[in-house]
Amino acid sequence: MKSYSFPQGEMPAVGLGTWKMEDGAATPAVTKAIELGYRYFDCAPIYMNEPEIGEAFGPVFGPAFAGGHDRADFWITSKLWCNRHRPDLVEGALKQTLSDLKLDYLDLFMIHWPVVFRHDVHRPESGQDFISLEDQPLVDTWAAMEDCVTAGLCRNLGVCNFSIANMQQILDSCKIKPSANQVECHPFLNQRVLIDFCKANDIHLIAYSPLGSGDRPERMRAEADPNLFEDELLKDLASQNNVTVGELLLAWAVCRGTVAIPKSTNPTRLAQNLAAGQLQLSETDMAAIESLETQYRFVHGKFWEHPGGPYTADAIWGEEGKL
Ligand code: A2P
Repeated sequence: MKSYSFPQGEMPAVGLGTWKMEDGAATPAVTKAIELGYRYFDCAPIYMNEPEIGEAFGPVFGPAFAGGHDRADFWITSKLWCNRHRPDLVEGALKQTLSDLKLDYLDLFMIHWPVVFRHDVHRPESGQDFISLEDQPLVDTWAAMEDCVTAGLCRNLGVCNFSIANMQQILDSCKIKPSANQVECHPFLNQRVLIDFCKANDIHLIAYSPLGSGDRPERMRAEADPNLFEDELLKDLASQNNVTVGELLLAWAVCRGTVAIPKSTNPTRLAQNLAAGQLQLSETDMAAIESLETQYRFVHGKFWEHPGGPYTADAIWGEEGKL
């Protein structure tokens, strides 16, 4: 499996996304994934399944590697939820995640969104539930995350859903650089400008929803949503390469130098997705996929827009995020 170098460690090019693994699905899926050879797991407290994932990790990384695996061979990431940006809350949030996942450290700890809630708000319902970035600057949250690296609780730091402007703010004042930006990315949202900025700054781009997240929640759905699996060009290229559309999407992500974290709880698709990271596509096919006309953001960010609140999706995605 292709991998990418970080200041501390190597990140495999394909990992398992755990968003939307609900109601008892995460423990068996993660257990199966480890058995199939997955070594990268992407987690977050807001996915509400870190304790279940910990049930899968516990026996594997137990005392004296009782499960037969060395923690150092794995790459495990999690994130800081929006109600824990206040610097004095950051370390406690990370420690809760580590306790839930039954781990001593994370390989990568990321800010989940450039959006802040009041600390007693889990999911905001009104504009008053938010705190603006002027009142709670990202750079102060970042400094508290840097302290978590010094304390040995995490090895690398990153961000998610960050625009170039938000990344630049961190780059301008940080002691530890962000090593990754995790954003929605697939042929309908190829993120070319963001990828170029990341490359120039030695930041890896992690593609979430690389399959278009067909199981995304209702608040992220609209009637006219396009579907990657129904796109004629993608279907043709998949059949010409003798692979499924899912495999084509993941091969494309890895061949263009991004990291992909497809979610699956289905053993056959879990195996297929991991193996897709080894496929090689021709330059012509890569270019054809890169230039698809349809551009669309499924995780649109409009759910952070509330009357009287400080956030708009347009401001979150920045100039380069306009479709
Ligand atoms: P399932 O969990 O039943 O496999 P994303 O990673 O973009 O969020 O997409 C996740 C969705 O894609 C889930 O509904 C998942 O269903 C489905 N999925 C995962 N792998 C594949 C694949 N190889 N082909 C088609 N659908 C897939």
